[in-house]
Amino acid sequence: MKIISVVGARPQFIKCAPLSRELRKKHEEILIHTGQHYDAELSDTFFKDLDISKPNYNIGVGSGTHGEQTGRMLIELEKIMLSEKPDVVVVYGDTNSTLAGALSAAKLQIPVAHVEAGLRSFDGTMPEEINRVLADHISDLLFCPTQTAVNNLVSEGIKKGVSLVGDVMLDALMFNKDIAENKSKVLEKFGIEDKTYLVATIHRQSNTDDRRTLESIVDAFCKIKEELIFPLHPRTAKCLKKYGFFDRLDGAVRITKPLGYLDMLKLIAHARKILTDSGGMQKEAYLLNVPCITLRENTEWVETVREGQNILVGANKEKIFRAVETFEPKEGQKDAFGTVGASSRIVEILGAFDVRNQRV
Ligand code: UD1
Repeated sequence: MKIISVVGARPQFIKCAPLSRELRKKHEEILIHTGQHYDAELSDTFFKDLDISKPNYNIGVGSGTHGEQTGRMLIELEKIMLSEKPDVVVVYGDTNSTLAGALSAAKLQIPVAHVEAGLRSFDGTMPEEINRVLADHISDLLFCPTQTAVNNLVSEGIKKGVSLVGDVMLDALMFNKDIAENKSKVLEKFGIEDKTYLVATIHRQSNTDDRRTLESIVDAFCKIKEELIFPLHPRTAKCLKKYGFFDRLDGAVRITKPLGYLDMLKLIAHARKILTDSGGMQKEAYLLNVPCITLRENTEWVETVREGQNILVGANKEKIFRAVETFEPKEGQKDAFGTVGASSRIVEILGAFDVRNQRV
């Protein structure tokens, strides 16, 4: 079976690593990098850390408005799909690369498989929510990480091709946890010790692009007296500079370049708490049993909040500060993301789908 996998942004490299490893045991995989993320720290480092094969194509779309970026992807992806003629196209998560990959394939009548299907924040202002909903509605195979995701699809009338497989990020985390622990020197690099520091990451458009929202987050971070490590996404760095907040923050917290997967995994595992607006980090904190403070009003990963491991505080200065001081996770069993093996379950379902297709 010939499979095209489309990736382009940092979280997709993490999701594709375990699945690509499994896929290549039985099938031919053509990996397309859209080039949505192009800085070495957001792209090359992840390919190296996660031992992902070099992409067969890098279409180098770079940055731009949503329309420009997605449009450029569509033009190039269509050409590659027409010449490679895959049996199925696999897309991951909810970025512009996800939507472009799914749309290009669907228009060419190539079956689409969506990994991390069914996630919903029910916040239509998020570009990711638009990408997810559209990708799900044109997918033939929908691989859901949680029962909540399955239920979301059912309530939108999508029942065919839906499978609850668990979470590929759990596979990536379990595969790399010990490697990160042994290989990463991130604690030494920052001169920090187990459970004596916080980690923060911010990159959502809703938190970075609006001046007042970003200022509220900056004020909260400056008020925190604990050691706070803050790896900066380029979007956030740009906005902090544009609004004149960079120097104030730089004096108060430890600003650093974006970190690779292994360094980040170790940094989260040893943190006292994390503050983030990233979906992936909410999950990683949950899986590593680290309290998570989410700087959003909603989340797709509702299980992490329901089970008391995660708290939503938005960009409210006082709520952020109070959560750092007082939020304590609930005790109890934490298994919202199923068991390791989502990647092999996906490969099995893809194989059965291919056999069925060929019979038709
Ligand atoms: C994208 C995804 C988001 C995902 C995130 C992970 C969309 C709509 N958003 O957001 O869902 O959580 O990736 O990081 O697809 N930039 C660089 N270097 C790079 C890449 C980006 O400097 O290598 C800067 C550019 O100024 C660019 C901005 O970051 O305009 C935003 O990049 P973009 O890929 O549009 O969105 P992200 O914020 O990274």
